[in-house]
Amino acid sequence: MQILLTGGAGYIGSHTIIELDKAGHSVVVVDNLVNSKEEALRRVSKIIGKQVPFIKADVRDREALDKVFKQYKIDAVIHFAGLKAVGESCEKPLEYYENNMNATFVLLDVMRKNGCKNIIFSSSATVYGDPAQIPITESCPKGHCTNPYGQTKSMLEEVLIDVQKADPEWNVVLLRYFNPIGAHKSGLIGENPNGIPNNLMPYITQTAIGIRKELGVFGNDYDTPDGTGVRDYIHVCDLAAGHVAALQAIQRKCGLGIYNLGTGHGYSVLDVVNAFQTANGLKVPYVIKPRRPGDIATCYCNPAKAKAELGWEAQYGIEDMCRDSWNFQKNNPKGYEE
Ligand code: NAD
Ligand code: WQD
Repeated sequence: MQILLTGGAGYIGSHTIIELDKAGHSVVVVDNLVNSKEEALRRVSKIIGKQVPFIKADVRDREALDKVFKQYKIDAVIHFAGLKAVGESCEKPLEYYENNMNATFVLLDVMRKNGCKNIIFSSSATVYGDPAQIPITESCPKGHCTNPYGQTKSMLEEVLIDVQKADPEWNVVLLRYFNPIGAHKSGLIGENPNGIPNNLMPYITQTAIGIRKELGVFGNDYDTPDGTGVRDYIHVCDLAAGHVAALQAIQRKCGLGIYNLGTGHGYSVLDVVNAFQTANGLKVPYVIKPRRPGDIATCYCNPAKAKAELGWEAQYGIEDMCRDSWNFQKNNPKGYEE
């Protein structure tokens, strides 16, 4: 199939190109590079041994997007494009709502006008809020999102569900990612956050390489085995493979599909620090800090539905994730800014 990846230059998109290529799909990327670098795509080209067609454009630019649909016969879209920093979304709610909502509205309209009704949407475990049950299944009610970023994901899920309901020719797959970490084994591509990382793994790797003095562990008084927050970390290459499986479902005309993409295992912050130290033979200094506002104690999924219906399940363990995250950091001390 010919697949359009919006936001394909980003962390998850760049890894997904490789899995799509392996599965025999052709890709085209549209990204405005607001949170990524074209260098990521050059490196993907190196890995797959072919050029990645790239159009630098904003998904909200209707004309530019329409041109892409006219030039390439797009069979399906994987919609990664969006702003994703939880904290920033609380400071700039309007920018987040405007970008994430409008980009999706324009995209869906241009798709429909060009007769393309197949979409995979990057959703998030954040839609469960403080989850009503652990492990989280897809039937678990969506919760109250404590930040505008999460709200955009939750609202866009509703929009997509309504679009599919109104016109059953649409195939809509909502993938709720848990906590993606890790990097491609080549060490050429990985997570490349701007400024001080918000997420745990990039903070750990930047501490290990000496950019940060020590990791702050946000709270050790949660109701978890060691008191620190528990999450479902998933290797980004496993996540990427989940998109290939979702495309197969689209080819089978799945209608609406909603899937958790996680491993089903919960690891605490200290478990991750320990796994990182063991996998890489390094010390990561840390201090206990107060809880981070908006955090929950525990979040991990039951990934059985994705296994049963998509035939997908995660292959990598926590030490693989830690090894590959470090491999990228070590090979690219300043990320893509060499
Ligand atoms: P990322 O920031 O690395 O990638 C997103 C890409 O979208 C970036 O390259 C950015 O430049 C681009 N973009 C943003 N707005 C755009 C617009 N209007 N037009 C064109 N391009 C635009 O993020 P990621 O980690 O690769 O995440 C991909 C998707 O998955 C996002 O939608 C994110 O919300 C979602 N998600 C991520 C995580 C995570 O922890 N990384 C978890 C759950 C869901
Ligand atoms: C993981 C754990 C922190 C940093 C976020 C978004 C979510 C999704 C994934 C997009 C928590 C602790 C972290 C640090 C720490 N993104 N931590 N010190 O918060 O589970 O999820 O990313 O959809 O929407 O909210 O991920 O990596 O920030 O935190 O102790 O410096 O690590 O408190 O327990 P989170 P995270």
